[in-house]
Amino acid sequence: MSNNFPVSADAVCLISPNISSNQFTQSTPLKLGIMASGNGSNFEVVAQAIQDGQLNAQIQVLIYNNPSAKAAVRAVNRGVEAVLLNHRNYKNREELDEQIVQTLRKYDVEWVIMAGWMRLVTKVLIDAFPNKIINIHPSLLPSFKGVHAVEQALASGVKITGCTAHIACLEVDSGPILMQAAVPVLPDDTPETLHARIQVQEHRILPQAIALAASP
Ligand code: GRF
Repeated sequence: MSNNFPVSADAVCLISPNISSNQFTQSTPLKLGIMASGNGSNFEVVAQAIQDGQLNAQIQVLIYNNPSAKAAVRAVNRGVEAVLLNHRNYKNREELDEQIVQTLRKYDVEWVIMAGWMRLVTKVLIDAFPNKIINIHPSLLPSFKGVHAVEQALASGVKITGCTAHIACLEVDSGPILMQAAVPVLPDDTPETLHARIQVQEHRILPQAIALAASP
């Protein structure tokens, strides 16, 4: 029997409710350090949420590891300092993470946001910011960990996937879940179309998840 019943792209179920910023009353702006490797659309939405007054925070620094990351251009356009720490210049992951920690400390960062950081992180980083590192991942964790989450979801035949904002711990794409949003998988989806639909939801939950994590 065919499993290709029509599914509407509008049949999105936002599992976590929309949270309005005034539910969070931290009096001083959160000091964020954002880590990104590529396009930086999640960097952009966090910056926009701050600009729109939806997130009481400031971005102290963007760290990027890939010299051609568009995230760096976005940071410069928004007047955020962008620091390139090219992983190729370090002899191992720990050494890179030591430099990341030093940079985050130099910029007085309190919360670290891995917004499309495509490198495995080590104990060096995790231990330096205990329970203060947030990751955004394009699946409903604990399903489909790793860099090919969207492709894995498509290949598995699931009808719903989504995204997760969670506190990062040492095990990749693991740690306490802050928010999730569900996204239907449509019969004609390619990795690109599905990822684009997931990203709409990532952009919705990431600023809220930051506020949620930091709420007293
Ligand atoms: C997002 O899909 C995120 O979940 C994953 O990497 C992607 C980054 O996208 N970890 P962008 O660079 O923020 O546009």
